[in-house]
Amino acid sequence: MITILGSLNMDLILHTERIPKVGETVLGRDFRQVPGGKGANQAVAAARLGASVAMIGAVGRDDMGAFLLRQMKKDGIDTSLIWESEQPTGLAMILVDDEGHNSITVASGANFDLKEEQLQQARPVLEKSSLFLAQLENPLSYVSEALKLAHSLGLRTVLNPAPAAPLDAEMMDGIDILTPNESELSLLSGGLPTETPEDCMKAGQRLLDQGLSTLLVTRGADGCLYMDGKETKVFPAYRVPMKDSTAAGDCFNGALVAALEQGSDLFAAIDFAMRAAAISVTREGAQPSLPRLEEVRAFDAWYGKQEI
Ligand code: RIB
Repeated sequence: MITILGSLNMDLILHTERIPKVGETVLGRDFRQVPGGKGANQAVAAARLGASVAMIGAVGRDDMGAFLLRQMKKDGIDTSLIWESEQPTGLAMILVDDEGHNSITVASGANFDLKEEQLQQARPVLEKSSLFLAQLENPLSYVSEALKLAHSLGLRTVLNPAPAAPLDAEMMDGIDILTPNESELSLLSGGLPTETPEDCMKAGQRLLDQGLSTLLVTRGADGCLYMDGKETKVFPAYRVPMKDSTAAGDCFNGALVAALEQGSDLFAAIDFAMRAAAISVTREGAQPSLPRLEEVRAFDAWYGKQEI
């Protein structure tokens, strides 16, 4: 079993030819509301790929919260540790440009109203889990406590540090695998450049020097970089026509833990996660884009038909 701590948001999505500059107005099209939130997306990705998943989080006592919970249940996720807060359900305003790139602003609402007792209630579920996954759309101190608890109970812990925030030494101690993208890696390494693979290796080395054991840097179309202090490995990306990159990182993280839960070694899990994420970027929206196990299993045939 996998326990995932994270956010649940309603995503309000607008497509636009290009993302506006500060002070500029542009016309958009195809407005949609879809279930999202990095935590929920990662939970749904893992569940669709065959993992047994429980989620710790919070929604508001409103229609959107009820809708998000229904969606999670449809994917077979245990929602008994999702709290109903007096704060409104989290909202994300997402702009997607014609090249599939996005910009996202989140109103956290209930996601920042987690309770200490939820972690205590989560103990029995954590004790049954082999993996714990979190992101940073909940209060940092809460994520840190949860990582510490999961680590002390012997779970393998994965932190996707998104959106980026500086992590203290205590938090780093509770992390087995850290999965930043390039901009998150830059912030975590104290502002080092992360444009090239060599830049990422230097920035990654700084985190390993601080005691991190395993680093996976997701680099979009440039693939994924693995570092553990003894070995460094570059996984090239699968090249596909990108429609919308929203939740590609979430898909990667959810698929990674799903594969690890099912006994894959880390390199096989990375490849599985890259395949799942490649499928997700060819589709629109957060949770609607996340693939099912049979689709990832049929990846080779599907990939052969992709035209870039
Ligand atoms: O990673 C994509 C997600 O980020 C969206 O679903 C949005 O809700 C924000 O949390």
